[in-house]
Amino acid sequence: MAINFRSGTSQDKDKLQQLGLSSYTQFKTVLTEENWNKMYGFLTAESSYTDLLDRSKCFVCESGDDLIGMAYLVPSGNPTEIFQGDWSYIRMVGVDPAFSGNGIGKKLVQMCLSHAKETNEKVVALHTSEFMNSARYIYENLGFSQIRELEQLFGKKYWLYLLNV
Ligand SMILES: CC(C)(COP(=O)(O)OP(=O)(O)OC[C@H]1O[C@@H](n2cnc3c(N)ncnc32)[C@H](O)[C@@H]1OP(=O)(O)O)[C@@H](O)C(=O)NCCC(=O)NCCS
Repeated sequence: MAINFRSGTSQDKDKLQQLGLSSYTQFKTVLTEENWNKMYGFLTAESSYTDLLDRSKCFVCESGDDLIGMAYLVPSGNPTEIFQGDWSYIRMVGVDPAFSGNGIGKKLVQMCLSHAKETNEKVVALHTSEFMNSARYIYENLGFSQIRELEQLFGKKYWLYLLNV
């Protein structure tokens, strides 16, 4: 399988939107119908991707013409209720399930960490949940520490993770 990693751009928006749905649909069965509908709304909204593409550094993995992986590093200066203004943070890591277990997710997270170092970020943050087992394994394996539990989202436990870079 020939795969290639590169930066993502606004021209990738439609394919990123499709990938958002294909990578997160595995959670349809672990969420209640109401919470899946909420997540589905976020995953299918064009603004979810245009906002991220506007604000963050996007990394993608492609196989031929298909996008099969994505991750975004939002730079510091974009505070939210969860993330402090002096932290950068990783969002929306997703890999097409047909390609899972090939190290693509890990590589995309590593690309975010390298970019954070190159751009003099001090902290990379993220939030992840009790139902995102593969993701938690990757983050803990790369040295992220679980800092605290957050307010529930989609009816599930979420935690804040941080890594000093
Ligand atoms: C999380 C996700 C991106 C992982 O992508 P992936 O390409 O399949 O993961 P990788 O192949 O890079 O896995 C990296 C490592 O995690 C390990 N791993 C993955 N899932 C695991 C699991 N459930 N249990 C134990 N180890 C696991 C792999 O063996 C590999 O280990 P290694 O580095 O020691 O070889 C993908 O499963 C996904 O899109 N999930 C849905 C969306 C999601 O949860 N996103 C994260 C939001 S915070």
